[in-house]
Parts: sequence; structure tokens; C-alpha cells
Amino acid sequence: MTMPSHVTIVDVGPRDGLQAEARIVPTATKIELIERLANAGVPVVEAGAFVSPKWVLQMADTADVLARITRHPGTRYPVLVPNRKGLDGAIAAGVEDIAIFGAASESFSQKNINCSISESLERFAPVAADAQAAGMRVRGYISCVLGCPYEGEVSLANVTRVARALDEMGCYEVSLGDTIGVGTPGKARAMVDALAEAIPVDRLALHFHDTYGQALANILACLEAGVATIDTAVAGLGGCPYAPGASGNVASEDVVYMLNGLGISTGIDLDALVETGGFISEALGRTPTSKAAQALAARKA
Ligand code: HMG
Ligand code: MG
Repeated sequence: MTMPSHVTIVDVGPRDGLQAEARIVPTATKIELIERLANAGVPVVEAGAFVSPKWVLQMADTADVLARITRHPGTRYPVLVPNRKGLDGAIAAGVEDIAIFGAASESFSQKNINCSISESLERFAPVAADAQAAGMRVRGYISCVLGCPYEGEVSLANVTRVARALDEMGCYEVSLGDTIGVGTPGKARAMVDALAEAIPVDRLALHFHDTYGQALANILACLEAGVATIDTAVAGLGGCPYAPGASGNVASEDVVYMLNGLGISTGIDLDALVETGGFISEALGRTPTSKAAQALAARKA
């Protein structure tokens, strides 16, 4: 398998990036972040989550965010939906793309969505069917594909079982979450090779957190297996409130810099992306974790 010539970047910063922030980020800041990402050429910007505010208060203004963003032609704005109530919120907000999110680890499933893996799949099936009947596209996430904060090792058989189930529900893509960033390239590649026997590789996406600094290497190994969709977060924002110790997603700027160097197109303007990372980092009072962003910003200063 050769590497793809084009990669679709899904920037999950406005959702995964902000959901772990302890302080509530103003709605206007979320809107500006989403608009800047879309204007930088990011084709898919995960804009929020219709989850219980008792679980993740930071996402409580998702409907408001969606109502107020200026949409960029051609950009998609998916949101997370865990259950029927979330789907109702997404339908009311005129959402076109949702993502249901399961896990390959029982303990993480319980901590994150308060049910077992099997219960979650039973819950997702009618949600996915009704979403599709309403004309929505449905993405499926699997958390803890390379390790779990509560159980350690996660079996590939569990990952495959959940991936098949999401595929059978009609998910157009399955995003493989290394929630706590523990994976290494050989393991990541072996997982993709195994899953590609069940689901075509062009319907697999990588969602790697960078806790152990392995995400870029893992992505490269999986690009070599033909994966062409990568979830990233501008400025390396991110984490999951239910995954202790998890750091941010791989930084969008680092991934785009690497892909540019490999001659793989993304349609993203790296300078505009770096500026967007600067904007949100300043708003949150921190430095972007992206090495590429730091280097490019220093060269300009
Ligand atoms: P539960 O407590 O079992 O649900 O939570 P419930 O049905 O008993 O409802 C409890 C309350 O929440 C009720 O309110 C419901 O109405 C309300 P009350 O009657 O007590 O006032 N509620 C809702 N409100 C708004 N929207 C909804 C909704 N659902 C219930 N959709 C539930 C179960 C799934 C709702 C909860 O566990 C939940 O919302 N979990 C989401 C947690 C989350 O967002 N985690 C982060 C995203 S996943 C992630 O980051 C991983 C990923 O990035 C990939 C990776 O890195 O691995 C995707
Ligand atoms: Mg994540």
C-alpha cells in the first residue's frame, strides 16, 4: 500500500480541545476558533457535543455556537451525540454530521458514557438509523484502541468487534482513538492492518493523543498503510475529562507540516493554522504545544 496523495484533516480542537478545559470558554471564543479553522482551509471542524451538561459542562453551548458561526462553503461541522436526547439536539440545530462514540475498554465506556460496550452499541444503533433517516452522516469513534487508563492493555479483538458494529450501523468512517496516547508505531500499524481486513482503509481515521510524544510517528506508520483521514487539534489542545493523564491531541500544525514535507496535500494554509493556534492559546493563557507552530512563529518574530 502506498501513502495517500491527499489527507483529510478533522480538527477536533473546538470539541476535544476545549472539553477538558476547567474554566468555561466564552461562546464567542469558540465561534472565532471554528471560523478561523474553516478559513484556514480545514475541511472538517468538529464543532461541539450534544452531551449531558452534568457530564461535560464546557459543551453546553453547542447549539448556540452552531447557530452563530458563519459557515465556510464546503466545510463540515460534525458534533458528538451519545444518545437520543443528543440526536434531538443535533436535529433541532440543523446539524448534518454527527459522531457516536464508543470504546474498546469496558471501564472507559462506563466512566465516559455510563454504560457497558454492549449497552452503548444497543443505544447507538437506533440513534445512527434515525440520524441517517434524517439525512445526516454518522461517524463512529472508538476510544482506548491502544490502551486504557483504567485497564491498561486493550485487546485488538475488542477494537475489531466495536469497529464492525459501528460499520454495520452505517458509519461512513470509524475513528480510532488512542485516548491516552500510549501507542507506538508498530502497534498502531498492526491495528490498522488488522482492521483493514474488516473495514476498507479509506474509511478508517486516526485520532491520536500525544501524551507520550508518539503521535506523529504513529500517524506516519498508519499513512504507510493507506489511512487518509487524521484527527488533530490546533495548538495540540485536548484531553478527555474521563481519561486521567491524557494530554492533547496531536497538534494540527505538526501534522500539516509533516504532510507538506511528504508532498501530501491537505488544502490547509499552514500560516493561517499557526495564527489560529496562537489565537486560541492566547485566549486560554498558554503556549501552543506544536513544535512546528513554535518554530514558524519564532521565524516570523
Ligand atoms: P447518564 O447520567 O447515564 O444519562 O449519562 P441519563 O440519561 O441518566 O441522564 C442524566 C441527565 O443528563 C438527565 O438530566 C438527562 O436529561 C441529561 P436530569 O433529568 O438529571 O436533569 N442528558 C442530556 N442532556 C443533554 N444532552 C444529552 C443528554 N443525555 C442525558 N445528550 C450520558 C449518560 C451518555 C448522557 C453521559 O455519560 C454523557 O453525556 N457522557 C459524555 C461524556 C463526554 O462527552 N466525554 C468526552 C467525549 S468522548 C472523548 O473525548 C473521546 C474521543 O475524543 C476519542 C478518543 O480520544 O478516544 C471522542
Ligand atoms: Mg479524543
